Amino acid sequence: MFDALYPLARSGLFRLEAEVAHHVSLAALRIAEKSGILGLVSSDEEWVSPVEVMGLKFSNRVGLAAGLDKAGNTIDALGRLGFGCIEIGTITPRPQAGNPKPRLFRLVDREAIINRMGFNNPGIDAGVENVRSAKSFGGIVGFNIGKNKDTPNENAADDYLICLRKAYPVADYIAVNLSSPNTPGLRDLQGAEASARLLGVLKKEQQLLAAEHGKQVPLLFKVAPDLDEPQIRDLSQVFLNGGLDGLIATNTTLDRDKVAGHPRAMEAGGLSGRPVFEKSTATLGLFSNHLGSHIPIIGVGGISSLEDAREKIRAGATLVQIYTSFIYQGPRLVREFAQAL
Ligand SMILES: Cc1cc2nc3c(=O)[nH]c(=O)nc-3n(C[C@H](O)[C@H](O)[C@H](O)COP(=O)(O)O)c2cc1C
Repeated sequence: MFDALYPLARSGLFRLEAEVAHHVSLAALRIAEKSGILGLVSSDEEWVSPVEVMGLKFSNRVGLAAGLDKAGNTIDALGRLGFGCIEIGTITPRPQAGNPKPRLFRLVDREAIINRMGFNNPGIDAGVENVRSAKSFGGIVGFNIGKNKDTPNENAADDYLICLRKAYPVADYIAVNLSSPNTPGLRDLQGAEASARLLGVLKKEQQLLAAEHGKQVPLLFKVAPDLDEPQIRDLSQVFLNGGLDGLIATNTTLDRDKVAGHPRAMEAGGLSGRPVFEKSTATLGLFSNHLGSHIPIIGVGGISSLEDAREKIRAGATLVQIYTSFIYQGPRLVREFAQAL
């Protein structure tokens, strides 16, 4: 039913400014969920194709990437659309407004988005509360965590620790975002030394929290597609030595080669959707070569067809996530991938 309605909904939504459309569609989903409409028209069975990764049982291989449900207040509604996993956030210790608007741009003819949202989010306490209030979603909830913009990189570990401690009791996994291009200096944490230090601190805390809460919550790092081969090799070594539980490859790109000449191409921010697929998948493949079967990888970046999703898996991903193609093509993709992968 959604599949049939989505093109109509999309033509309405795409007449709105991109960020307004984002808020309108999430609000509409929440209303449809609360009123029981979503529950009536969705069925769980066809989306179940279970897989166990990092000690977690995912009902299928398709997740929603971070950034769509930043606050974690739309989990139940999004869950009805068939996602086996919903990654909320990025969430920072304190609430933050993000960058000035406009900060979200569609490149419709390229099925792409450029965003420079800048971690607008309600803060970790609200995020945890929202996840606690989710009722119907039985899938995996990942917490994507970041640092506040005004926290210097020397103190970034403190921000990640605050979020890790607060999210731990309610999260199924924690994703440490090192790769947003919209928080100045954040990507510097992908340097071998900085990431080794951060991973060490967080793994130590994870052990303490595991003992305290009696559950092991996997720790993942999310990386950019703009790393070169030596960086990927060094980072992989850091991840293997440090006992990282999982990798998310990749975030958005700063590269504009694939959209050169497009009127929107020079908007500052991270590019997502079709134009990032090749670069993102190449990055995933290189990480996979280094990490082998030791660290599972969630493949994300430019997946817009079943064939793309399969290519991510061939490149080394165990699970996949989507964001931009979900905006352009709607929930049809989720069910199609869940059934086929
Ligand atoms: C509007 C927008 C906001 C995003 N916000 C976040 C975020 O807060 N944290 C994060 O880790 N990734 C964020 N992302 C990146 C996505 O999670 C994903 O890694 C990236 O878009 C590539 O996947 P895609 O091509 O399927 O969209 C955002 C992406 C978009 C389009």
